[in-house]
Amino acid sequence: MSPENASTAISSDCPGHLQPSELGTKQYWDHYYEEEFAAIRDEGAEDRDIGRLSTWFEDVNAPQRVLNFLISSEFPFAPCHFLAGTANEAPSILDLGTGNGQTLFQLRLQGGFRGQMTGLDYSKASIQLAQELGKNQQDCQDIRFEVMDIISDEPKEQEWWPEDGFDLVLDKGTFDAISLSEDVVESSTSNLSQTHQASVRLHTLYPSRALSMVKPGGFLLVTSCNWTQEELIHWFTGGATGSSHSASVWKCIEYPKFKFGGQEGQGACTVCFRKALSFE
Ligand SMILES: C[S@@+](CC[C@H](N)C(=O)[O-])C[C@H]1O[C@@H](n2cnc3c(N)ncnc32)[C@H](O)[C@@H]1O
Repeated sequence: MSPENASTAISSDCPGHLQPSELGTKQYWDHYYEEEFAAIRDEGAEDRDIGRLSTWFEDVNAPQRVLNFLISSEFPFAPCHFLAGTANEAPSILDLGTGNGQTLFQLRLQGGFRGQMTGLDYSKASIQLAQELGKNQQDCQDIRFEVMDIISDEPKEQEWWPEDGFDLVLDKGTFDAISLSEDVVESSTSNLSQTHQASVRLHTLYPSRALSMVKPGGFLLVTSCNWTQEELIHWFTGGATGSSHSASVWKCIEYPKFKFGGQEGQGACTVCFRKALSFE
């Protein structure tokens, strides 16, 4: 089945689908991070300025906006609530599609997050790059970077999996990238009272996969430039996918708005979802 046909197999109220592109392929990301690794390989580790490596959505200041939100006292897992010497355990953080690991390095070095951190990516080149950067970066040596395909691999079988999942799961540009894949898989979908097998685009499985890695009561933060805020909310609160994991919108991060052709828009959006506690 072609990707175009596959999209018709999903519930009719889903937010539509994106035209596939090379950013939806593993080859693209392998090449991207191999090049980035080659650019730093000859630099001495002590001369490296990891802050100048690529991080997505810098043009709209998304990394800083996300950091500001996560360290603000309104966020329950902000470091200010986990002062050294208190009994509270610092939150565990998982970065989905971590790329060169910048997001986690920033949270540790600038944000003061001290808990367990893990970055996943299906591109081995990205993980090798992130590991190389982490091992030479003070205070970052304990950050784990692991090769894993979020769609096809089972996180609960990995030795780094914490029993109930992670307190905070991050995605910056990864749902976007997966939404650009033309690949389809067989999946059971529900339509009114019937369940049937259908070919679906990979991203339709992603919200459920991402939420399955969040601890009950924990948070999932998704930053996108390909989907609108409303579309993201639709995908991750079950409206589009019928995900078995219940989540609600906890907060939307503000971005500057612009007007174009009479329509209002913004360069990116970040939505913070909270996964329901199992008894809610
Ligand atoms: C737009 S980049 C974002 C990288 C990083 N989060 C950042 O903000 O700089 C998308 C990332 O998702 C990864 N990715 C795409 N599909 C994936 C999958 N199925 N499983 C794991 N990682 C994936 C790519 O390798 C790439 O590193």
